[in-house]
Parts: sequence; C-alpha cells; structure tokens
Amino acid sequence: MNTKPKTTLVIFGATGDLAKRKLYPSIYNLFKANQLSEEFAVVGLGRRAWTNETIRETVSQSLIHKESNESVEKFCEHFYYLPFDVQEKNSYHELNTLLSELETKHQIPGNRIFYMAMAPEFFGTIAENIKSEGLKNTEGWTRLIIEKPFGHDLPSAKQLNREIREAFSEDEIYRIDHYLGKEMVQNIEVIRFGNAIFEHLWSNRYIENIQITSSETLGVEDRGGYYEKSGALRDMVQNHMLQMVSLLAMDPPLRLTPEEIRSEKIKVLRALRPVTHEKVSDYFVRGQYGPGQMDGEEVAGYRSEKNVDPNSFTETYVAGKLLIDSHRWAGVPFYIRTGKRMHVKSTEVIIQFKDLPMNLYLNNEEKVHPNLLIIHVQPEEGISLVLNGKKMGISGESVPVQLDYRNDGVDAGNTPEAYERLIYDCMLGDATNFAHWDEVDLSWTFIDAISKAWQSREIDIHTYEAGSMGPKAADDLLAQDGNHWWSKNVIHIIERGFE
Ligand code: BG6
Repeated sequence: MNTKPKTTLVIFGATGDLAKRKLYPSIYNLFKANQLSEEFAVVGLGRRAWTNETIRETVSQSLIHKESNESVEKFCEHFYYLPFDVQEKNSYHELNTLLSELETKHQIPGNRIFYMAMAPEFFGTIAENIKSEGLKNTEGWTRLIIEKPFGHDLPSAKQLNREIREAFSEDEIYRIDHYLGKEMVQNIEVIRFGNAIFEHLWSNRYIENIQITSSETLGVEDRGGYYEKSGALRDMVQNHMLQMVSLLAMDPPLRLTPEEIRSEKIKVLRALRPVTHEKVSDYFVRGQYGPGQMDGEEVAGYRSEKNVDPNSFTETYVAGKLLIDSHRWAGVPFYIRTGKRMHVKSTEVIIQFKDLPMNLYLNNEEKVHPNLLIIHVQPEEGISLVLNGKKMGISGESVPVQLDYRNDGVDAGNTPEAYERLIYDCMLGDATNFAHWDEVDLSWTFIDAISKAWQSREIDIHTYEAGSMGPKAADDLLAQDGNHWWSKNVIHIIERGFE
C-alpha cells in the first residue's frame, strides 16, 4: 500500500475556526512526522479576499508546536488560497483550473480530497457543483470529508445524504466523528478483542452496567446560535456517545476491515431499545446550566449567553439509560451523560462488573468493592483496573486497589490529534473510523424519538449549577436501578480504602 499518496486537499471554510484550530495543526503534524508525500497541496477556499500569502501567514500562526521556522516555511509553501462563492459556478471553474495547475506542478495524479469545514446548509450545493462542474473527472480518486452536524434529524440527514450521494458514492464519503480519531476510543477495540481476561467477561453474565461520561467545563461560548437548535442530544449524543456505545457493545468482527467492523456496530444500533414518547423521562434526563462558579469565578447561566433565548428550553446536559436488546446485552444498562459547564473536562468509560455470588470479605458490613475497568479517554489517556486485595495489617479485611496504566507514562510523545489520524486515514482510503450512512440513519432514528418528546415542554428540564456534575435527576436515574455514577469518585473511594 502506498502510505504517502500524492494528494491535494481542498478545504471549504479555510478562514474558519475549525480550519485554524484543528485542521492546519493536524496537517502540519502529519508533515512533521513525514507522513505526507513531498508532493501535496492544500487549497483553502473562503468568501474573504485572502491571498496565498494571507493563508500561509494564518497557517503559520495557527501552529502551536512548531519544529523550526524553516520547517514551518517549507510547510506553508504547500498552501494556496482562492476566494470562493459556493453558489457560483465560476468559482468551481477557477478551482478546477487551479487544481489542474497544482497537479501538474506537484505531479499529483488527480487525487483530491474535498473537506467541508463550513456551514452545513451548503454541503449539498457544494457536492453537486463539484460533480457537475467536472471536479471529479480526474485520473486519480476523489473523496469528500464532511463535518458534523450531518442533518438535525432523520429527514434532514436523509435529504443531505441524497444530495451528496448524487455526486459521491458511499465509499467516497468520509463523515467525520472526531471521537473516532481519539487514541483511547480506538483502543476500545484492542482492549476488548486483544485481551482474553476481558472479552470472555464482556456480556450480561458478568457486567453489571457500563457508564460513559463526557463532561466539559466550557459553556456554549460564541456558538449560541448553533447550539440553540442543536442542544447536547444532537451535538454529542447522536454522534460521539452513540459511537462509543457501539464500539463497547459490538460483537467481535470477523476481521478488522471497515466493512466487518461497521456491520457489527450497526447491529448494536439496530438493537437499541427505542425510547417511546411516554417513557422518555424514565430513560433520559435533560438539564441546562444555571449560573455558578468555575475555578472560583462567577459564570453566567445558559439563558444569559450570547444568542440564546432567555426562555430557552435547549438542553446543555443529557443523561440517559440505554438498553440493547441482544443476547449479549439484555438487562445491562448503558448509562451515558454529557454536558457543558460541568465540574471537569473529562471523557471516561467505566465498566462495572457484577458482584461475586457470595461475599466472604465484608468490610464493616459494606459489600466488597465491585471490579471496575476504567478507560480514560481524555484528558488523561489510559486504563485503570479496580480489584480487591487484602488490607495490610492484621484485620484480614479486603480493600480496593487500583492498577493504573497511562499512555504518557510509557511514550512521552504527544498522541496524535484526532483530526490528524482521520485526515491521514482518508488519504489512505481507510473508512474504518468514519460514520457510515447506516450508522447515521439508525442513530438519528433513536435520537429523534427523544427530541420529539422534549419538544413538548411538559417534560422537565433540570437546571444544574455551572461547575457541578449535572442535575440530581441524573443520579436518580441510576439510583432507581440500585446504581450510581462512578467517574471521578473512583479514585477517592480507592484512597479511602487505604486509610
Ligand atoms: C463537538 C461538539 O462535536 O465536540 C462540541 O460540537 C463539543 O460542542 C466537542 O465541545 C467536544 O469534543 P472534545 O474532543 O473536546 O471532547
């Protein structure tokens, strides 16, 4: 396999935030790591009247970890800019001419990636014009990377999909879910399928529940306009959280090919028990942050944020209990929660194993601590395993002990940015870590039932204090099953055990 295909990357939305914060630094990291062919070009497109110099200057400024000025300069020379109107055919003709020139100059055999990093309402128009104006007629391959949101419900996602499928086939479409590019999300498969001690236990026979928490400390910042229409359910659950659920719950794939992995993930999404309108409140809790304190500073509540309706019912927090009606998972709750303005920025998966059938080691009449496997996705990356051992001394009691593995303890290098891997995968034509249409379709189907029920304002939205871990109703959701959220508490419990 050619690991450095000569490619031109065309970025729609080159003057935007995503390009500056994520894409340019990621492409630079690939360049530094020598993962790009010497012959590559990046063409930035935007409405602004920038020049090649402006984009090169912007790219240079966006790089945080610069190797040397010389390497940055060499890198920036690969960037070009074209002022662009997505609704103007002429723009596409100019782009095609520029791409042909660059392909001749850099001897790139017509391999083109079109990266949509801009407002979603134009995705369809752009895809159609790319095709109709001949930008796909090259000797090489053409691919489309498309950012979320992929629609805002199932009908709009279907419509968008129809539009882009007019121009690109499914295997040319790379739908980004940046969680799938995270090191520890990719590690879920290896932890599960590479370890006999886990995979044999990975079912309702031995697992009590699985918890996934993705909490953020930031509020909506300047994205109020977008967020008002989206909310946490569409922004985080439909994509990132459900992707993690499917990786945790899928059966072992026959082989590690994109098709086999995807087909197992799809089975999980098909087996998700639909949440009916009447039952939404039994399974899902929505919350919205009120004012509070973050790091000792007063912060505003969601309803006072910029571009947010002062009476808004948009959720900034979701907790849910998902059930998977399959032989492997019947009866095991998958608890998820995600929110903004929470106490910590952290993404973690906790697998709680079932208690032993008989407990020989009572600690002051408390049960022995359940075994837990913790997958730390971010900001720490690693795995912890909570076991029980003998408390030192003469008492003979058991205490929980925690075995920790941290990625950065072993390899001091930075783990690659999610975007870095995903752009590279797309260049190689590997769609494993992208969302297939069937996954998008099924996850919207599941989500739409919940958001429809929430549209009626009869269902409570729980206010939680900024800087907290969310509303109490989310604790009650687990308490009714006799469970509780573990997350960051685990460490304290373990430390207490040693007192
Ligand atoms: C994005 C959401 O997809 O994910 C944002 O639109 C959210 O609202 C972000 O902040 C979280 O990503 P990460 O990688 O910081 O956990």
